[in-house]
Amino acid sequence: MLEAPGLGPETDQAPGFTPGERKDNALKVILVSPEVVPFAKTGGLADVAGALPLALSKLGHAVSVFMPLYRHVVDRELALEPTGIELSFHVYHREQKATIWKGEFPGTTVPAYFVEHDGFFYRRELYGDTRGAYPDNAERFAFFSRAVLEAVVALGIEPDVFHLNDWQSALIAVYLRSIFAGGPVLGKSASLLTIHNLAYQGLFPEWEFNFTGLGWELFNWKELEYHGKVNFLKGGIVFADLINTVSKKYSQEIQTAEFGAGLEAVLSSRTEDLFGILNGVDYQNWNPATDKLIPAGYSPESISGKAKCKAHLQEINNLPQKPDVPVVGIVSRLADQKGFDILGEAMEEIMKLDMQLVVLGTGQQEYHDMFTRIGKKYPQKTGISLKYDNQLAHMIEAGSDMFLMPSRYEPCGLNQMYSLKYGTVPIVRSTGGLADTITDCTNKTLKKGTANGFSFSEYSAAELVKVLKRAVDTYAKKPKVFKKLVAKGMAQDFSWDRSAREYVNLYEKAIAKHH
Ligand code: ADP
Ligand code: GLC
Repeated sequence: MLEAPGLGPETDQAPGFTPGERKDNALKVILVSPEVVPFAKTGGLADVAGALPLALSKLGHAVSVFMPLYRHVVDRELALEPTGIELSFHVYHREQKATIWKGEFPGTTVPAYFVEHDGFFYRRELYGDTRGAYPDNAERFAFFSRAVLEAVVALGIEPDVFHLNDWQSALIAVYLRSIFAGGPVLGKSASLLTIHNLAYQGLFPEWEFNFTGLGWELFNWKELEYHGKVNFLKGGIVFADLINTVSKKYSQEIQTAEFGAGLEAVLSSRTEDLFGILNGVDYQNWNPATDKLIPAGYSPESISGKAKCKAHLQEINNLPQKPDVPVVGIVSRLADQKGFDILGEAMEEIMKLDMQLVVLGTGQQEYHDMFTRIGKKYPQKTGISLKYDNQLAHMIEAGSDMFLMPSRYEPCGLNQMYSLKYGTVPIVRSTGGLADTITDCTNKTLKKGTANGFSFSEYSAAELVKVLKRAVDTYAKKPKVFKKLVAKGMAQDFSWDRSAREYVNLYEKAIAKHH
């Protein structure tokens, strides 16, 4: 049996362990995620899965991360070591082989393990392309989930807890309670399932249940079946020891029909075990004082660099370089969730306002078409980039005056928290994590000193136009108030340390419950 470096009995310390902190109570955590910064990313889940392990490690816990070895990772030619672990098991009728590689998070000794299977993971995208989701996703992620457990057994890690993220790893909670229950290595491992987005459930035709390798007795409406289909996330919700979402508000919302995406009943049935922990921000990557990706640094004490970032953003978007015209930024997956239908409806009215709109996004074709149309019609007022571009995302955070997130729903949302740090005032629909982090600017909240942005409640184009008018008016006519919002946001701290401590509490609860 192989010893996992940094986790064996001789080195009973977590990587990055600081003497004096929690040595005796250090937990062995396996965090499983289908995407992880800096290895592969499509959205905020990757930011979370990349930052939380490092924060846990700083608290003295031993964390290992598992993800697929995608083409993105291979092509980056990272220094990966073979672990010597070659797995072989059946997924339905076919024998599949997995090779396990080990790397480290850059600049740390926190281990990241990669599950290699070129047929499944050496592809241009992670989950699907413009034609839709890959047709073999059930097989790919059932395989991945199974391979992670087999690898952990082979490594002899004996984790206290598996921290699972979204449907792609949710089956692990089911396996721990079935195929792997009571085993010598994993028998005592608890599980926590974090739901980052309930809209993605891993819902597949009934026959694909075969790929899970589970007994058909679990294919029933109380466990893995959902209206005649197999639902991976539901399996995780039913079998995980504890569940959480990425904000308190979203953990309540998903227990209602409006936000529950059909799983509200099963979620409500676990209400005692369902928690909300707001994501943190990785200020190593997202801090205007140290950000290498923006043209000029700045901080609350010396904010002049922000004007340079704005002028540069206007320039690269071929917009008139007017310092007094507010720039409103958007960086987003172009998905229904993000509110682009009401934005499209509201666009004519919005373009009447004295503002410029800078958009960076990629996703659904209809929104690509919509923004292409808008860009052509209003070249003097809009800058549209339909692609994925991390540096431009940073430049927009830094160079915009305000940041727009009109989401229909938002489990947490990271960009509004990045915006606060960058002195870019968020304008948000008050839902999920946006409601938990952004306090609308009113006389009352200004007096209390809590105002840090603008928000609206009713999901409609009319309300969106209203809030934008209010924000643009405040910028133009009440510069002192606007400055207050900027200062409040920049002073707020959403660092991972607090969230990581909340996760540790939840891990401990899950472990206690499991025993
Ligand atoms: P979600 O996970 O729903 O997409 P979040 O707000 O949690 O939303 O996280 C989105 C993350 O993805 C942020 O880090 C954001 O900067 C990044 N992002 C989204 N779209 C793009 C893009 N087109 N180019 C670069 N970064 C992007
Ligand atoms: C999801 C959600 C987003 C959240 C992210 C990370 O993609 O849409 O709101 O911030 O996961 O938890």
